Amino acid sequence: MTQETASLTETPMPGANTRKVFIKTYGCQMNVYDSGRMADALAVDGYAPTEVMEEADLVLLNTCHIREKAAEKVYSALGRLREHKKARAAEGKEFMIGVAGCVAQAEGEEISRREPAVDVVLGPQTYHRLPQALQKARAGERVVDTEYALEDKFEHLPDPTKVIGKPRSVTAFLTVQEGCDKFCTFCVVPYTRGSEVSRPLSQLLTEARRLVDSGVRELTLLGQNVNAWHGEDEQGMAIGLGDLLYKLAQIPGLARLRYTTSHPRDMDDRLIEAHRDLRMLMPYLHLPVQSGSDRILKAMNRRHKASEYVALIERIRSVRPDIALSGDFIVGFPGETDQDFEDTMNLVREVNYAQAYSFKYSTRPGTPGADLPDHVAEDVKTERLARLQALLLEQQQAFMQSMIGKTIDLLLEKPGRMPGQLIGRSPWLQSVNVDAKSSQIGDIIQVRITAAGPNSLFAEVAEG
Ligand code: 5AD
Ligand code: SF4
Repeated sequence: MTQETASLTETPMPGANTRKVFIKTYGCQMNVYDSGRMADALAVDGYAPTEVMEEADLVLLNTCHIREKAAEKVYSALGRLREHKKARAAEGKEFMIGVAGCVAQAEGEEISRREPAVDVVLGPQTYHRLPQALQKARAGERVVDTEYALEDKFEHLPDPTKVIGKPRSVTAFLTVQEGCDKFCTFCVVPYTRGSEVSRPLSQLLTEARRLVDSGVRELTLLGQNVNAWHGEDEQGMAIGLGDLLYKLAQIPGLARLRYTTSHPRDMDDRLIEAHRDLRMLMPYLHLPVQSGSDRILKAMNRRHKASEYVALIERIRSVRPDIALSGDFIVGFPGETDQDFEDTMNLVREVNYAQAYSFKYSTRPGTPGADLPDHVAEDVKTERLARLQALLLEQQQAFMQSMIGKTIDLLLEKPGRMPGQLIGRSPWLQSVNVDAKSSQIGDIIQVRITAAGPNSLFAEVAEG
């Protein structure tokens, strides 16, 4: 799943809440979703969210372990929080520190050993127990709960649409699948998020309907390996993500569907048909390939060849020609030669991405990649990453420029910076600024793109 840093932006709940929680989210969209659900669990316990750390009685770091840097950030943030805790204690005020997410899962006890100021450590499968964990911590216990809970956390979390004071949003994430059984040799996810588990169809339809009833118009289905989702339909027949999309598409009021992140091996025929048949399935696909070299793909245990990936993209484009492609790339995987890297550059030229994320290989202890010979020197990784990113940026900008003059549908999501301005999303996930005084958030309007910046577009309302 694509890694971005985001902090929870929620307005404080009105009323009797006395305590405040500040949640800092690192990493992927699933962590953003999880932070929202943790905030729901805490709201029931009387905590209101705040965006100001200094106001908080509880700080939760929802962490990412995917690369070394992501994990290091957590320890430096904890060092700063320890000092803040001391200052608050001197004033006689409570201040609790919680670590959740994938660093919590991977490091467990080690976190409290390295940073004794931490009160609770909760893995991604146990965060529904957060209120009880805080209660224990208040009684003086240091809580580390990183087991794979036997109960289904989703059954134990409050209904996200019933939490009073939650701001309404027209877009929402819905986790449909968690964990991964693919074991790519660079990746910690199978160890931190555990093996693949799909949420049952009925649970998903219920949550989706509730979200739509509360004003959501666009749903993004989330999973570390979302297209490995599988379940049973009402008749007990085995179904996959394609079928799930057809079912969700029937929910009245829902206008758009997306899903992320997919593995090329799980792009089955039904899912490709969904791209052909469902206009509300947005023409944007994040399909990581990681490398364009068959040798490296094999060493990464990706279980497909570069040519198979390119052929898959061609099939998807043949049924949905306007689809925009996004990907993830790793440069400098152990053993990567100049020629392997050139193969990646050539694959990028062949596919032509609208958007992409690229990283230097980061050794993760405990993964098979860590034990491979021929680790690539840091300066070689840096140079390769710069070249790859220059090419990807060129393609992204060409894609943005190609939008100018087009009339497109825009889902209005939030107010813009200027009065009368609104910000929406294009079907291709670009952020679009438009002067649309007579429209409202949640509307889908037709706009004409007038200009393109590096990361966003500008538009005017299309006439008639
Ligand atoms: N080093 C660098 N990048 C990594 N990713 C996953 N593990 C590593 C690692 N050890 C990247 C992959 C994945 C994305 C979420 O993060 O490209 O698709
Ligand atoms: Fe990690 Fe590979 Fe699973 Fe993606 S498919 S989460 S990269 S192991």
